[in-house]
Amino acid sequence: MKKILLLLGFIFLYLSAFCQSDTTEKVYVIAADNIKAHVQPTMYGVFFEDINMAGDGGVYAELVKNRSFEFKAPLMGWKELKQDGGDGSVLVLNRGVANPDNPRFIHVTSKTPKGYGLSNEGFRGMGVKKDDQYNFSVLAKLPWVAGISLQIELISAKGEVIGSATVSPSSKEWKKYTTNFNATETDPKASLRVLVNGKGSVDLDMISLFPKDTWKQREGGLRADLVQKLADMKPGFLRFPGGCIVEGRELDTRYQWKKTIGDVADRRMIINRWNTEFAHRPTPDYYQSFGLGFLEYFELAEDIGASPLPIINCGMACQFNTCELVPLDQLGPYVKDALDLIEFANGSVKTTWGKKRAQLGHPKPFNLKMMGVGNEQWGPQYIERYKIFEKAIHARYPQIKLVSSLGPNPDGEIFDDLNKSFRKLNADILDEHYYRAPQWFLQNVKRYDNYARKGPKIFAGEYAAQSVSAGSPDNKNNWQCAIAEAAFMTGLERNADVVSMASYAPLFAHVEGWQWTPDLIWFDNLKSYGTPNYYVQQLYSLNKGTDVVPLTLDNKAVTGQEGCFASAVLDSKGHQLIIKIVNTGKMEQKADLVVNGVKPGSKGTLTVLQSDDLNGVNSLDDPLNISPKKSKIEFMGNHVKLILKQYSFCVVRVSIAE
Ligand code: AHR
Repeated sequence: MKKILLLLGFIFLYLSAFCQSDTTEKVYVIAADNIKAHVQPTMYGVFFEDINMAGDGGVYAELVKNRSFEFKAPLMGWKELKQDGGDGSVLVLNRGVANPDNPRFIHVTSKTPKGYGLSNEGFRGMGVKKDDQYNFSVLAKLPWVAGISLQIELISAKGEVIGSATVSPSSKEWKKYTTNFNATETDPKASLRVLVNGKGSVDLDMISLFPKDTWKQREGGLRADLVQKLADMKPGFLRFPGGCIVEGRELDTRYQWKKTIGDVADRRMIINRWNTEFAHRPTPDYYQSFGLGFLEYFELAEDIGASPLPIINCGMACQFNTCELVPLDQLGPYVKDALDLIEFANGSVKTTWGKKRAQLGHPKPFNLKMMGVGNEQWGPQYIERYKIFEKAIHARYPQIKLVSSLGPNPDGEIFDDLNKSFRKLNADILDEHYYRAPQWFLQNVKRYDNYARKGPKIFAGEYAAQSVSAGSPDNKNNWQCAIAEAAFMTGLERNADVVSMASYAPLFAHVEGWQWTPDLIWFDNLKSYGTPNYYVQQLYSLNKGTDVVPLTLDNKAVTGQEGCFASAVLDSKGHQLIIKIVNTGKMEQKADLVVNGVKPGSKGTLTVLQSDDLNGVNSLDDPLNISPKKSKIEFMGNHVKLILKQYSFCVVRVSIAE
């Protein structure tokens, strides 16, 4: 008997270890006729910064690295080629004042009829796809009219020619020449050769290769698969161009929007601040070509239905670096840049900058409604500068909402001082940043419950759970971080009257070119994948609804009771009720969702994002390892019963009677 009892005991322990479930059913009540807050259309957006090769080498589809020889080392990314006995020389010329925005070009002399030229390695190689068309272009000038041509070859990682064409420069003046070819193989690590056929010399600049198949087939445009990932989120806003990149490590290398529009050959390339930021992740070949410039950012926002949110430099360089400041009496040009940007975005084609926008191909205004003054700034020096911008901008454009920074941390003296000052100034939108441990996200789900309901709105402008610590190269986009963010976001949603915008950061990372982790979307030269965190963001954005309604357990908001977090919204346009419920515990739980105040239809959908493994991640090889699974559910009268699996994020949608 003793043995049997012992055996039964073991069986019980074994089973409870593997099928942990809380057998008591919990009744969650949704008061669906009691609207508590409106969800802003901007609520869930994306934060873009050219970090981790997000821009050059990433979403900007240019395949040639250092196309205009403006990197500090002018031939970085290029290699001299002497094949089949070919010989010659390359000189780097600098026309300085004659063309300050694009000073350098190369003078190539071939001493042999063939075999001499250069090759470009691309950004960790060039990703090319079999049968796709690639468009080559170059600015060329002949010192004297010589019978030479350029042989353009796409080379596979194995060294085979997988695409070729020729161009024949014919003018003694700078002229753009174009050609195209189809790739005969798929290769993530191709390279480009530019060989001179014939003896003689030629000047070359802006050597460029783009896929034809870009986002919306725009010439010289963006990588379609990466933009598609953004479009699939239906983001409410697009914040650009950052991030610390706005500030520059020093003022000289700050982001200046006027230098990023017009002919790409005239957009002065500068170093990317992330090139040198982290000693443990140096990226010496990281520069900003600005091929993705302000017109392209605005167009991107328009394409994906996001409200544009440009951030402008407010006369301060990064406070983690030089902390350089523009003296207050010399802020004029900076303020003018901000005012001109609003005119560029919204002005009629009769205004100076509206006309410029039209000349660049976009006569229709972009309907800019908000702008960030400074990125992640702090201290009295920031407040002083902000006030000058605010006065000038609101004097001319009172309807533009301004975003002001509450610094790099969500608490502490810097945060408190800024918070107090900006609330006193009755600022429009306060930008809070939190790069914290997953536990912080769970513990802070009530963060906004007691915020003042009047006054500035909150923009959770940069956040991501850090599996190790902020700035650690070992951080992973694992399920533990993603589910903590999902839980925390129920708190954002419940407080949508205070929180008007939120974005995960950073957005993109090249698997071989990153500086900062974790990141929402990872990619190589051909493929990309959304992290579990991406699917959390997507589920919130696609299910943001229009109005918050209370969801309670024992008359209390669900903010971590036995590991569960929940919120509910109505979609008044689609006549739907949307319930989000996150079980962060390792016990499966039984839930009875009771809907009061409206009549739910009998059929609904359940979308579940779940993994048994908190360390689970997605990858290029297993991109959907942790991804949403959708199924149908039946409502019985006004309620539906669910099993909330361990570590799961569930979204229930059901139509409601009009
Ligand atoms: O998202 C990465 C960086 O984190 C941003 O550039 C900056 O604003 C923050 O410190």
